Amino acid sequence: MNDVSESLKILVGVGGGIAAYKACALIRSFTKAGHDVHVIPTPSALQFVGTATFEALSGNPVSTTVFDAVDEVQHVRLGQEADLVVIAPATADLMARLAQGRADDLLTASCLVATCPVVLAPAMHTEMWQNPATRANVETLRGRGTVVLEPASGRLTGPDSGPGRLPEPEHIASLALAAVDRFGIFRRSLAGRRILVTAGGTHEQLDPVRFLGNASSGRQGYALADIATQRGAQVELVAAHTVELPTPSGATVTRVSTALELQEAVAALAPSVDAVVMAAAVADVRPASKAAAKMKKGGSDDLSTLALTENPDILRGLVEARRTGDLPEDLLIAGFAAETGDADHTPLDLARAKLRRKGCDLLMCNQVGEGVVFGQPDSAGWLLVPGDQAGHEEVREVPASSKLVVASHILDALEELFPAS
Ligand code: CTP
Repeated sequence: MNDVSESLKILVGVGGGIAAYKACALIRSFTKAGHDVHVIPTPSALQFVGTATFEALSGNPVSTTVFDAVDEVQHVRLGQEADLVVIAPATADLMARLAQGRADDLLTASCLVATCPVVLAPAMHTEMWQNPATRANVETLRGRGTVVLEPASGRLTGPDSGPGRLPEPEHIASLALAAVDRFGIFRRSLAGRRILVTAGGTHEQLDPVRFLGNASSGRQGYALADIATQRGAQVELVAAHTVELPTPSGATVTRVSTALELQEAVAALAPSVDAVVMAAAVADVRPASKAAAKMKKGGSDDLSTLALTENPDILRGLVEARRTGDLPEDLLIAGFAAETGDADHTPLDLARAKLRRKGCDLLMCNQVGEGVVFGQPDSAGWLLVPGDQAGHEEVREVPASSKLVVASHILDALEELFPAS
């Protein structure tokens, strides 16, 4: 694994599409993180954004042609030295040229010599993205190990909307860095699978303005949805409360607030998926009743005590429904264990017990505490798979890394559990 916190040499390629302006924010995001960025636009990208902008943002000279800086053999050097190539936007034409192995400008020539991860963020109208010629080029490129990200869905240039939008620059940056961090993270190993992921923390309302909640940011669940969609899965994301996060490309998002709403959304979707990953931080209890008006001190409301009711254990409910035949027997069910440990038990001891209690097929255990994991971009922990009758769980360590990389370890373990097709 590479340490992406180190300064990397990043080549940012820019294709000739209207989204070329978003490449500026992408360059900025990489330079702000301390990476050394060289920008190579295609000649047509310069119809949209000028050389001066790219030079100012990257702090390096910009060229489009193999005939500049010939004495430094630039057409080979930039690609050879790069730790990462990211092309955003990658247009249909640029992908066609890359698929053919052309080297008729500096960007395509650089891609031919690059041995590092090459990540393309396509942006085009939906019809172009779905055209059989583009599909074939994308397949060719993916087959050779180039990462072709799924485009986001939404408003395109003009009144049309659909898949083909360039994801937000920060989102492209984190996905691209994950490709450096873990080789093969975006392999298309979940094509044809349907995965349900829950994310975020539930809010259990006390009155119209107060709730019981937790510090979950939703990042791990979104990262799982991100990696799963990029691996080709059709993803249903049930999102409770999260910080502001970009929608994973192609995922269908159902928003919920409370544990009961989350349970209802999961119950509706679980029968039609191949796997459920319960990454949501579900409140174990809710107020026994919700006041219709704001509760007042000194009034008839007793604010010093709270009557609570237990929420259903959604994960256990799924396992039970599978056992009784209400859910398909081959449905895979994964859960999380957020553990602080206590005086007598390590987080891993508690996770082993939780795996047995919940009966799921896979459990990701994180050590949590003040400022650790919850809300942070990084995570670490252990993946547990049930063992034999004697309870010898298989435990796999997940090294400290971004939540995208942690998500890839979780999905790897899940993929191993799918019956061979
Ligand atoms: N979970 C659930 N329903 C609940 C509580 C938790 O489905 N009412 C799921 C979570 O999504 C997670 C797993 O159960 O996948 C473990 O959550 P965690 O909060 O660690 O455990 P709890 O079951 O709440 O157990 P405890 O609070 O005793 O540690």
